[in-house]
Amino acid sequence: MKYIYLIVLAALLRHAGAACYNGTDPALCTTCSGSCFDNNGCMCSDDETIPCVPTACQMTTMSLCCPSGYFWNSDLSCCSDTLICDPPCLSDEMCVSVSNVATCACNDSAYSGKTIADFSPSVSCNTVTMTISVSQCLLAHLGYDYTNMHLLNSSLAACRYSYSEIINNSSVRKVQLRVEDGWCGTIMTFDSTKLYYKNSLYIGIQNKSIITVSPMLLNFTCSYNLTMETSLIYALKPIQNTVTLPGPNGTGSYALTMAAYLNPNFISPIQADDTVEVGTLIYLGLFVANADGTAFSLRVEECYATPTNDPTDVNRVYIVRGGCAYTNDGVESVVKENGKSLEAQIQVSTFSFQGQLDVFIFCNATLCPKTQQCNMCTYNTRLARTSSTSFAQTAINIPLDYTSYLNSGSQTAVSWAVMLSFLVVLLKMNI
Ligand SMILES: *[C@@H]1O[C@H](CO)[C@@H](O)[C@H](O)[C@H]1NC(C)=O
Ligand SMILES: *[C@@H]1O[C@H](CO)[C@@H](O)[C@H](O)[C@H]1NC(C)=O
Ligand SMILES: *[C@@H]1O[C@H](CO)[C@@H](O)[C@H](O)[C@H]1NC(C)=O
Ligand SMILES: *[C@@H]1O[C@H](CO)[C@@H](O)[C@H](O)[C@H]1NC(C)=O
Ligand SMILES: *[C@@H]1O[C@H](CO)[C@@H](O)[C@H](O)[C@H]1NC(C)=O
Ligand SMILES: *[C@@H]1O[C@H](CO)[C@@H](O)[C@H](O)[C@H]1NC(C)=O
Ligand SMILES: *[C@@H]1O[C@H](CO)[C@@H](O)[C@H](O)[C@H]1NC(C)=O
Ligand SMILES: *[C@@H]1O[C@H](CO)[C@@H](O)[C@H](O)[C@H]1NC(C)=O
Ligand SMILES: *[C@@H]1O[C@H](CO)[C@@H](O)[C@H](O)[C@H]1NC(C)=O
Ligand SMILES: *[C@@H]1O[C@H](CO)[C@@H](O)[C@H](O)[C@H]1NC(C)=O
Repeated sequence: MKYIYLIVLAALLRHAGAACYNGTDPALCTTCSGSCFDNNGCMCSDDETIPCVPTACQMTTMSLCCPSGYFWNSDLSCCSDTLICDPPCLSDEMCVSVSNVATCACNDSAYSGKTIADFSPSVSCNTVTMTISVSQCLLAHLGYDYTNMHLLNSSLAACRYSYSEIINNSSVRKVQLRVEDGWCGTIMTFDSTKLYYKNSLYIGIQNKSIITVSPMLLNFTCSYNLTMETSLIYALKPIQNTVTLPGPNGTGSYALTMAAYLNPNFISPIQADDTVEVGTLIYLGLFVANADGTAFSLRVEECYATPTNDPTDVNRVYIVRGGCAYTNDGVESVVKENGKSLEAQIQVSTFSFQGQLDVFIFCNATLCPKTQQCNMCTYNTRLARTSSTSFAQTAINIPLDYTSYLNSGSQTAVSWAVMLSFLVVLLKMNI
């Protein structure tokens, strides 16, 4: 009880000077059974053409409940002659009467002494969006018009869209972009370690008789580390394959991608018009996008190569079995990472099948709950049994360089091919 009493007292003190409208023309709605509605305002019920002044404001825009010169005071529940903004203004705003409507406007003195040097737009980058934010009232103080703000290439409506958000009790104006080359003029570039997405924001100036500034062009960039995943974005024709990987227990689904890379840093994708010499090392990368890396890791159960696009091809040669490197079939392979994060890394020495032009690589992978041991070197029967439906198989075709293979007479290449066919025969006999 004491608590409520204190709050009521505080409210009364705050509005000690406020006087509620108590006139007779227009009359209080209580005297004519009047009420307020969004479409027609506050009217008497006896005669719906006669406006009245309410003691309860039910309109969406509170300021429209009161007659000109009066402002809705929700503490006193009346129209008062004291200027009051509801909801209250932000810390760098002040309440002003614009055409007799209480409105929050920038309080210029909150920024007195600030110059363009204090203007510090912020850019936040995530994998799907880039967002640039600027302070509304600082821009207004500097002579700019934050309502006339758009990307330099404003060809689409989406490139002209900006919105306000309250951060730290003041309004910031934001423009959001897709992380996509060419979207509203965004330009993507890359160097050996990063991808860059660049665009320019135009900010117009206020329409005043004295012009002190010229429109601003703000260049901004988001940079992304090149990774197994992001390097596939800049590559024009990466050798990659994405399949749907069911979530653990069959709940949800994720995109599992396999790609091949030239270097052990997994940021130089092998592309369709690249050629890989037989006997050189290539790197297979598998990753799952958008899965919860704290709960799951990606476990590649097995990988094998075939001369045809048929996963059941009897000439298959294993590279990975039971989650670990398998070299008994004669192919040098190293599992550099598996079952620890949402990506797996496999190094393999390229080979070709005798008399065959193609090498397809098939891999089976699953999302392994981190509560289990996901990186062990045995076929995980428990995992397979509890989540037999949780495997997905993905395949890529390695673009081998046959001209150098056939013409150079490379010993390695020939021996690879010979050894492989030999092993394949052995394998078939074993089975
Ligand atoms: C209206 O309020 C004022 C000040 O609160 C008061 O002096 C005046 O008598 C009131 N008029 C009527 C008609 O109640
Ligand atoms: C924001 O600032 C205003 C004015 O300074 C203040 O009345 C209000 O309580 C503040 N709001 C928050 C959430 O801090
Ligand atoms: C405007 O800002 C100045 C400086 O921060 C402050 O002293 C003043 O009270 C503010 N005016 C209003 C109406 O809030
Ligand atoms: C919020 O404003 C205060 C005072 O202006 C500042 O010290 C603080 O760093 C700001 N916080 C954020 C998150 O911008
Ligand atoms: C401007 O953006 C549109 C739509 O995103 C795009 O098609 C066009 O190429 C861009 N123009 C320039 C000059 O970048
Ligand atoms: C600028 O202001 C003047 C006078 O207030 C008005 O006539 C003119 O149309 C305005 N121009 C723009 C682009 O709003
Ligand atoms: C901003 O970008 C535009 C267009 O890309 C360019 O013409 C201009 O020189 C850049 N300005 C600065 C300050 O970098
Ligand atoms: C980007 O790469 C640098 C250097 O390798 C590293 O320090 C940084 O943590 C990476 N950033 C992200 C977001 O992964
Ligand atoms: C999968 O199912 C098992 C047994 O029903 C349960 O213990 C486990 O928490 C489930 N995992 C997820 C990720 O739902
Ligand atoms: C590999 O995936 C295929 C297709 O999803 C499945 O039929 C096969 O049993 C899987 N093999 C292993 C060892 O998980």
